[in-house]
Amino acid sequence: MAKAKKMVFFCQNCGYESAKWMGQCPGCREWNTFVEEPVAAKPESRGRAGTAGSSNAKPVALSEISVQRDERVSTEIGELDRVLGGGIVPGSLTLVGGDPGIGKSTLLLQVCRKLSEKGIPVLYISGEESLRQIKLRAVRIGEFTDKMRLLCETSLETIRTVIEREKPEVVVIDSIQTMYSEEVGSAPGSVSQVRESTNVLMQIAKGLGVSVFIVGHVTKDGNVAGPRVLEHMVDTVLYFEGDRHASYRILRGVKNRFGSTNEIGVFEMQAQGLTEVKNPSEFMLDGKPEGASGSVVACSMEGTRPILVEVQALVCHSNFGIPRRTAAGTDFNRVNLLMAVLEKRARINLSASDAYVNIAGGIKMNEPAIDLAIALAVVSSHKDLVIDDGMVVFGEVGLSGEVRAVSMAEQRTLEAKKLGFTSVMLPRVCMKSVEEIKGIRLIPVDNILEAIQQIRSNRSAG
Ligand code: TYD
Ligand code: MG
Repeated sequence: MAKAKKMVFFCQNCGYESAKWMGQCPGCREWNTFVEEPVAAKPESRGRAGTAGSSNAKPVALSEISVQRDERVSTEIGELDRVLGGGIVPGSLTLVGGDPGIGKSTLLLQVCRKLSEKGIPVLYISGEESLRQIKLRAVRIGEFTDKMRLLCETSLETIRTVIEREKPEVVVIDSIQTMYSEEVGSAPGSVSQVRESTNVLMQIAKGLGVSVFIVGHVTKDGNVAGPRVLEHMVDTVLYFEGDRHASYRILRGVKNRFGSTNEIGVFEMQAQGLTEVKNPSEFMLDGKPEGASGSVVACSMEGTRPILVEVQALVCHSNFGIPRRTAAGTDFNRVNLLMAVLEKRARINLSASDAYVNIAGGIKMNEPAIDLAIALAVVSSHKDLVIDDGMVVFGEVGLSGEVRAVSMAEQRTLEAKKLGFTSVMLPRVCMKSVEEIKGIRLIPVDNILEAIQQIRSNRSAG
C-alpha cells in the first residue's frame, strides 16, 4: 500500500476539489456529486512550451498589440453565427453541451461541411463513433469536399501530433468525455481527465490559432464528468436544449468572451439534419388553440430577439387537502409566487385548486416579463374566461401586485404586430418607450387587478 496513488475527491458537476468526501458540494450545492480520483500528475514540462519557469517572459504594452478587424469566420449557419456573436473567432475554444442524442454531432458535422465548402481545412475527431457511422450520418446531411477530414482517436497526445502535422483551421472534438491524456492516471470521462484534456486543447487552440469545438454530454448522474467542470476554461459555452420528442432544438449561449450571452439559435431536426428556424415566434405559436381559456400569448426577449410563446394554465378543483402545482418550462417557485400574489392582491381564491402551468412548445423561459401572462393564464383558466386571441401580454409582476417595467417594450410590440396580433397589454410605465404603432391597440396596466378588469371588459366588448 505504500505506493498507493494519492486520491482526492472531485465534484462531478462543477469540479470542486476536496480532500474528503462531502454530501453536498460547497461549490454548486448539488448533492452526492463527489467521486474519488487519483491526483493528476504534474510533470515539469506542463504549460505552454518555453514558459515553464523561463526567465525571459516579457510583458507587452497593450497599445503595441495589433488586431485585424473582421477576423471572424462565418459558419454560414445564421442561427449559429448569432449565438457565437458573429462567427468563429480563430484560436477560440467553444464548448457545445447538451443531452445525448439532442443533435450536437449533427450540428457540428453541418458546420464542418459549410466550412470545408468554403475551402477551410477542417478536422473532425471522434472518440464515440467509427468512420463508417460518421459517414452514414454525413450522407444524410449532404456532399462533403475533401477539405473535411475525419479521425477516430481518443489519445490527446496523438491528436496534438496530427493537428500539428495537418494544420487544420477548425477542429471538432466529439466528445470530451472520451478523450484521455496519458499524463493523467484516471479513466476517460473522470473530472481530472476532462480538465486535463481541455487544458491540452486550450494550448493547441491558443498556440496554433486553431478554433476548437468541444462536444460535452450533460448527464445528471452516471460516471461522466459534466461539462460544467470546463465551463470556466473555454471561451464560449453553448447549450443545446429542447424536448427530444419535439423536432425543434434551441442553442443557447451561456458564456461568450467574444459576444453577448443569452442569444438563442433555433433549429429544427429534420431527415437531412438540422435546419434553421428563422422566425421562432411563428414556430412556437403553431397549434395554439383558438378561443380556449387558460391560454395567453407572452413575449420574452431571448438575447436581442423577441419571441412569442403561448403560456398555458389549467386550474381545477383539488380533490386532496394539499393542492398540486406544477410548472413546465418556467420556474416553479415563480409560479407559486404569482399565485400567492393573485390570492392576496386580486382576492382570487386558489387555495383549493390544483394548478398546472406550461410554456407550450417545451422552450424554457425564465424572463420576469412573462409574469403577467402566467398570472392572467391562471385567472383565465380559474374563471373560465377566454382571453382575446389577438392579444400579446408582457410585464413583470411585483409582490404588491404592481405591473413593473420591462426592457425593450417597443421591440416586443413590433414582434406582436409582425405576427398579426392586434393588441398588446403592457406595463403603463413602458408606454413612454413605445411609439404609436398602426394596427396595434396598446392596453397599459398598473397592476394585476387592472389587468384582470381589462380582460373582463375586453370579453364583454368583443
Ligand atoms: P446526434 O447529433 O447524434 O446527437 P448527439 O451528438 O447530441 O448525441 O443526434 C442524433 C439524433 O438526431 C438521432 O436521434 C437521430 C436524429 N437525426 C435526425 O433526425 N436527422 C438527421 O439528419 C440526423 C443526422 C440525425
Ligand atoms: Mg454525438
